[in-house]
This record gives sequence, structure tokens and C-alpha cells, in this order.
Amino acid sequence: MSVRIGILTAGGDCPGLNAVIRAVVRRATNEAAEVLGVRNGWRGLVEDDIEPLTRASVTGILPRGGTILGTSRINPFDEPDYLIRISRNWAKYKLNALIVVGGDGSLRTARDLWRSEHMPVVGVPKTIDNDVGGTDFTFGFDTAVNIVSEAVDRLHSTAESHHRVMVVEVMGRHTGWIAAYGGIAGGADIVLVPEHPFRLSRICDFILHRAAQGRPFSIIVVSEYAHPRADENFITEEVAAEIYRKGQFGGIGNVLAREIEARTGMQARVTKLGYVQRGGSPSAFDRVLATRFGVKAYEMVRANEWGHMAALQGNRIVSISFDEALKEVKRLDEEIYNVAEIFFG
Ligand code: F6P
Repeated sequence: MSVRIGILTAGGDCPGLNAVIRAVVRRATNEAAEVLGVRNGWRGLVEDDIEPLTRASVTGILPRGGTILGTSRINPFDEPDYLIRISRNWAKYKLNALIVVGGDGSLRTARDLWRSEHMPVVGVPKTIDNDVGGTDFTFGFDTAVNIVSEAVDRLHSTAESHHRVMVVEVMGRHTGWIAAYGGIAGGADIVLVPEHPFRLSRICDFILHRAAQGRPFSIIVVSEYAHPRADENFITEEVAAEIYRKGQFGGIGNVLAREIEARTGMQARVTKLGYVQRGGSPSAFDRVLATRFGVKAYEMVRANEWGHMAALQGNRIVSISFDEALKEVKRLDEEIYNVAEIFFG
């Protein structure tokens, strides 16, 4: 029997989304299955914004950033009539399955729809933050790390020439994966992550120690959600509320640079990499991973593996339950943090 599969991309954009879409379409059309693209995440299912995807419509999208389907952060449980509208459109397009490509929030929604509405869904984990459980890596992460690493390389020029402290603020929501990998790859002197609250006096001592040793510059990579230790009081409650505001973090870099300048007497400058980290063409690693996830998602649909998600474990692509993946946020691996720490102090 021919199947009709819907696919949507939800949450923040991420390099590799188009590679997943292309892989699903290519794999499905090999078997004469049909794929329908749902536009702008769950919004397309609510608002009947759905289009057939063919081999022609996915030609040339592999290296493109963003998502040809568009994305949004709306949730089917946001409004009382959304579920009714979704099931009406599901029936209208005679869908047999839905592939949800999203981060932990969208995958949680997919799990709830499978559980409460028995919607046949499978998931593909995407996020530059690499914080989804059950998978060694999510696609998008490698590209973001490459961008951070290149930025740190470039910032060394100004740091060394002007004898400055350069603070680089990176994304990662509640985890320090991007900061740790990007910092190690770029040769940063200090890496600050949410998993390890920092002590400012230690950072300043280290910067001054380096200067005394003939290295009057330092590069600090700080994750957007990194916190000082509880007994440090240089961030007022008001400023903390601004930096760690729900849903959109940012600003810890500025606070740090100001304090470091005041305490060490060295010039400090900030670079917030922001959305540059998730824009543009995916790395080769992310293209391959996203393609493998897309192929696996199609095979999971054919095997009726509802409520499951594609995951990378070792070098194998496997299918794991949403429950397993969403048990907890995948925090930065201690072993990786310890490697970063070797270069700090
Ligand atoms: O989840 C990826 C991510 O890039 C986080 O690192 C960041 O905090 C967040 O998205 C910001 O996304 P937006 O501003 O699109 O909500």
C-alpha cells in the first residue's frame, strides 16, 4: 500500500534540516511513497498549509541553511481548537504518518500527540545545542562548533595585538556543549558552562597570572546560561533576570567583561556570536548525520515504530523511544569539561 507521510520542522532553525527533508523524500520516492511538507512547524497542520514534496522540490537543498518548510514555535496544545483542526487536515490529506524534526520541546509535543491522540509520529532530533538525550550527537551541533572555533581563532588576532581579554558568548540554552567543544577546538583559555558555576576571582587571578607569564591576553568562551557560584554577588537580581530571562538568554558576556576590566585593569571586549551559530550551510558531518537520520525516519515509518526517534549511538543510527530520549536534558559530558579545564589554570 502506498503511504502518505507528512514532515514538519519545528522550533529554532538549525543547519541540516534541509538535508533531513531531502533524505526522507529521496528514500520515500524510491518506494513510490508520497511525502507532504507541512509548512512552519505545527502551524501548517493547524492552518492547512501543506504541499507535496517531490524529488524536484528537494533538488539542491542539501547545502542550504535554514529549512525550506519554514518553522515556528506554535504548539498543538496552545489553543483548544488546534487539535480539532489538526485532525481535520490529517484526514483531508489522508496522512498515514508524520515525521517531526525538532528539538526537545517539539519532540515532547510529538510524544504527547502519540500518547494522547494516538497520532502515528516518529521524530528526528535537531538542535545546535546537542542536549537531546539518547543520541550521541544532534545535527547542527558540529556546524555551530566549527563557527565558534573559527571565531575564537579570529579573535586571537585582536586579543594578542591589543593585549586584551576577549569574551565570546555562545549559545547552548541550559548546557555547555557548544562552549566546551568550541572552546577546546579554538584553544580558548577559559570555558564557562552552566554545568559548572564559576568563581570570578579565580578567572581574574588566572588572567593576571597569564599576563605575568608574558601572555597579556586571554580568550574566554562563555555559554549564554553560565552562572557564577551562589556565593558570588557581582550580578544584581535585576541584571540576572535580564540575562537569564525565560526563552531568551544573553548578556552574561557583557557583565563578565565589565567586571574583569574593573578587577584586572586589562581591557576586555565582548563578542556575542548569537544566530550566526545556527545559520548557513551545514558541515559535512552534519549533512551526513542529517541524511542518515532522514533515511532512518522513513524506515521507522515503514516499520510502524511510532513514538520513537532516530538516534546516533556509537556509529550506528538506531531507533529509541521518545520516553528514553526525553528522560532528561543531556548535560555536558564531564570528561569533555575536564579536557577543557586542563587549559584553565
Ligand atoms: O535551541 C537552540 C537555541 O539556539 C539556543 O541555544 C538558544 O538559547 C535559543 O535557540 C534561541 O532561539 P530563539 O531566539 O529562536 O528562540
